[in-house]
Amino acid sequence: MTGRIPQHFIDDLMQRADIVEIIGARIPLKKAGRDYKACCPFHGEKTPSFTVSPAKGFYHCFGCGAHGTALGFLMEYDRLDFVTAVEELAARLGVEVPREASLQQGPELGPLYAVLGRAADFFEKSLRQHPVAVDYLRGRGLDGETARAFRIGYAPPAWDSLLKELGDGAEGHQPLLAAGLIIAREGGSGHYDRFRDRIMFPIRDSRGRVAGFGGRVLGAGEPKYLNSPETAVFHKGQELYGLYEARQANRQLARLLVVEGYMDAVSLAQHGIRNVVATLGTSTTGEHLRRLFRVVPEVAFCFDGDRAGRAAAWRALQATLPELREGRQVRFLFLPEGEDPDSLVRREGAEAFGVRISGATTLSDYLLDELRRQAGADSLDGRARLAELARPLLDLLPAGVYRELLSDRLAQEVGLPRERLSIALGGTSPREVQPSPPSRPPAPPRRDGRASLVGQAIALVLAHPRIAAGVDCPPGLATARVKGAALLAELLQIVRGQPELNTGALLERFRDRPEGQHLSALLAMPNPVGEAGAQAEIAGSLGRILALDREERLATLVARAATGSMTPEEKAEFRQLQREQSGRN
Ligand code: GTP
Ligand code: MN
Repeated sequence: MTGRIPQHFIDDLMQRADIVEIIGARIPLKKAGRDYKACCPFHGEKTPSFTVSPAKGFYHCFGCGAHGTALGFLMEYDRLDFVTAVEELAARLGVEVPREASLQQGPELGPLYAVLGRAADFFEKSLRQHPVAVDYLRGRGLDGETARAFRIGYAPPAWDSLLKELGDGAEGHQPLLAAGLIIAREGGSGHYDRFRDRIMFPIRDSRGRVAGFGGRVLGAGEPKYLNSPETAVFHKGQELYGLYEARQANRQLARLLVVEGYMDAVSLAQHGIRNVVATLGTSTTGEHLRRLFRVVPEVAFCFDGDRAGRAAAWRALQATLPELREGRQVRFLFLPEGEDPDSLVRREGAEAFGVRISGATTLSDYLLDELRRQAGADSLDGRARLAELARPLLDLLPAGVYRELLSDRLAQEVGLPRERLSIALGGTSPREVQPSPPSRPPAPPRRDGRASLVGQAIALVLAHPRIAAGVDCPPGLATARVKGAALLAELLQIVRGQPELNTGALLERFRDRPEGQHLSALLAMPNPVGEAGAQAEIAGSLGRILALDREERLATLVARAATGSMTPEEKAEFRQLQREQSGRN
């Protein structure tokens, strides 16, 4: 069941989802005419500027610009990924989410997940049968409930425990090999289990499927941890151990703590600190950060206080800078020397550990502290060096409010006005930088707050798809040289083919395309034309768009004629256009 969710199902879901009910279950809505109003849940406000339109299946905040469909709301408000949001909506409506038969190329992943899931079952079962493993976990302070929540297991010592258990299936060894659970013997005869006599930590993906394992030796021994190799479903630099479990424990996480060890994540959970994930012995990557910020706005990194921890923190900072946006927060927590989160929480308890997290250093404080340390910033020399060291780091930040703030702080630190500093740094002046907050619409297409001719027509088609389905899409529209004309033509063709689609369904079709944000922004702009006038208005716009296209083309051809460089084809085109022009006037 790994295929895509079919388009028709999303269409149908958007038709049946009641956006007022879905949003109303989460924030109090008040009826205002045909729409509903509320104080926006995505920014602080006292007078409501958040509007839900049941007719369009669309919400929009005039204050902060947040907008989207019922599905989009679930993703933003409940912080769900797309598939989970679809599943949530479907569950509300009591329908099963279908999957397309996997037509995609590449290896079929179903058997891989299946065998990984069965291996996790087997390791869990083996744990119960091996007191030595249970004792080890008890000795480390884990109880059965935590072990079950993380599906912790045990791989028996024999070379072929898992092979015997799973290797005689119809497909033989192939899925076990592909999942990295067994290894082919050198010389080519037979296989043996990768994980033997180890405590097994299954690493689950966002949907809870086991994607790989980490295995720890019971006592001393090398290597201490053994991970699954890279497979079609397991990429060490992207996985976050415990993310699925953290979300299971709390659907509305505000912050995630990132630690280094499996046992740290599990031990903190055991003490009631459940919003924890662990990287798998690799440095923090941009992909990690993107996954984290999809779930929470605030991330706290936890590092050992020793040299290795400091170095790892600095690498994490560099991976973080490109992902920073307004509204995202990152903190760094350094533990006392010789402690890791597991030992510390056991020694001082969850409350004291929580106080440490809340008091963790902000990213900008950490950055400046570290730069000061590197530069020796007391002397004038040192301050110049600090500015120099900061430059490549500031360059990593996306343009926006955050970069401005950090530039400001740096300027203060170095004792230069920000303008002078940015010149000293040789970068762009921060004043030229446009703030670009995340997940907000792009600036409206025109400065006067009105959409262009094409933009208005698009907004009307989106707002009244059933009416627009009655408008013929003229043949020249898709190829017209007016910006956005092709998109308008595409929309008209969609609603003509499927007049039952509503606004939400149309928007969802563009979710993964760059035009999607643009469409929502257009829809969010005030549009004075109501349903009654929509058809005539759209048809009128189409006529004007085509006329504009002809005029522009004529002007180009006239310019070419003036230089005497028209080809015979262009001459024919010119005469044709002139005929059409006079035919209409
Ligand atoms: P415990 O000793 O069980 O408390 O381990 P820990 O979770 O505290 O791990 P530690 O701080 O020693 O290491 C942090 C993480 O680095 C581990 O969770 C592993 O992901 C990874 N790691 C540690 N040792 C090894 C190793 O020998 N091989 C590999 N591949 N990874 C390791
Ligand atoms: Mn440890």
